[in-house]
Amino acid sequence: MITTMRFVATCSAVAPALLALLWLSAVRASASAAAASAPNIVFILADDLGWGDVSWHNDQVVSPNMQQLVDTGVQLEQSYVQPLCTPSRSAFLTGLYPYRLGRQGPPLADLTPTGLSLDHTLLPERLSQLGYATHMIGKWHLGFCNWAYTPIARGFDTQYGYLLGSESHFNHTVGNGYDFRDQMEPEFTANGTYGTHLFADRAVRIIEEHQGSDQPFFLYLALQNVHLPLEVPDEYLVHYPEDLDENRRVLLGMVTALDEAVGRVVQALKDTGLYDNSVIVFSSDNGGVGKESNLPLRGAKGSVWEGGTRAAGFVHSPLLQGTPRVHSGLMHITDWYNTFLALAGESVLPDNDGFNQWDSLVNPSVASPRTSFFYNLDYEGEEGMLGALRLQDHKLVITKRRDLVPGKETEPWLFNLIEDPNETINLVEVEPGLAMAMQVLMLEELQNVVPKDQPEADPAGDPSNWGGVWTPGWCDVP
Ligand SMILES: *[C@@H]1O[C@H](CO)[C@@H](O)[C@H](O)[C@H]1NC(C)=O
Ligand SMILES: *[C@@H]1O[C@H](CO)[C@@H](O)[C@H](O)[C@H]1NC(C)=O
Repeated sequence: MITTMRFVATCSAVAPALLALLWLSAVRASASAAAASAPNIVFILADDLGWGDVSWHNDQVVSPNMQQLVDTGVQLEQSYVQPLCTPSRSAFLTGLYPYRLGRQGPPLADLTPTGLSLDHTLLPERLSQLGYATHMIGKWHLGFCNWAYTPIARGFDTQYGYLLGSESHFNHTVGNGYDFRDQMEPEFTANGTYGTHLFADRAVRIIEEHQGSDQPFFLYLALQNVHLPLEVPDEYLVHYPEDLDENRRVLLGMVTALDEAVGRVVQALKDTGLYDNSVIVFSSDNGGVGKESNLPLRGAKGSVWEGGTRAAGFVHSPLLQGTPRVHSGLMHITDWYNTFLALAGESVLPDNDGFNQWDSLVNPSVASPRTSFFYNLDYEGEEGMLGALRLQDHKLVITKRRDLVPGKETEPWLFNLIEDPNETINLVEVEPGLAMAMQVLMLEELQNVVPKDQPEADPAGDPSNWGGVWTPGWCDVP
């Protein structure tokens, strides 16, 4: 009833055509929910994995398990994410652009006393309301200074992993504190074991525990690989030539370790018989930086260039039709929220920045409902980043601070990404009308940008005050 009221409340603000579309998709979603029982949803998010760090884009990479899932699934070739970890994770769990949440800026730093806005219901909580069990494994990075920001308070039944952005893969420390928890209790036995192994073990255990259960589950498996520090057990290095750059070799070993974890999760689904009614989604959270490769795309993590935002990914499920298939429809990380709610049987989807993509993923003849998205948007560019807009085949990039008054700004970039996916030819002079129109759309959207939620670091959170463990409890919530 709450969702119905929300829907009615937003009606007056929505154009009639859009309204008709919303009704149509609502009717379709409820029809499909009645036809099949709700599937298990496994969302695997890799950390900093580059476009060129997967075997289907680069044959130097050894990722046989994922390759097999791609070869029998749907390869996502225009699936976009935010340029950085915290913003991407925020968008995934809210269905909202981070600039609506104050999360369009840098990732949360260790001692930043805030977290993902508490004003929104996160995906796991919605799925819980629809009868799902919800599990979170791996990296959180959406705030922990107050217990209210942490995974269990935000809708996950279980939690296993770390709260900050990046830790030692073996000893699970971040600076001077230990950061590893099971059900939000410090878990010291993890010390010494490679994180990706622990996360795969736990995922397998959770899947095994669901065997025979009627309750569908949502597993958010946020692996640390291939994020820094560059660490991997030696056994994964043998796949790569010794004369390779040493750090690149370790990075590639980390991809292979990640791939093994994905393979173990899928094998557990098959072993338990849960596979037949499961949907597995894989994506990177942003592009690579450092020893990752985004080639041939331009740019890297932290930028709105394609190399920072166009994620390697796929969907694999026996429920998909016409596989294998390359899906080139436009997708954005905000889409998973409504896509998963629709899969779970929600008949009236919330009004957010995402689209229910399920029909376009499952059915080769259905086009993506999305024709545009904002890569990011902000008043102040950091490192020259202000934002970018995708509109059908075109992308407008504005990277310097300016007042965005049409006609007064210095030169932005306009690309046709279908003809020029690597962003080499600026079309601003060629298509000034389109560039201007897109700039106006960005200008209009700026009214929805809220100030960055980025308070000063607070030493109260230092682990030396908390027995050497990164621990919630040192900030108030708004
Ligand atoms: C943890 O491992 C890192 C390397 O990733 C090392 O620099 C650090 O000293 C180790 N910390 C502890 C407490 O063992
Ligand atoms: C983890 O193990 C290492 C090596 O045994 C040890 O030096 C370190 O203190 C341990 N960390 C914690 C938090 O117990």
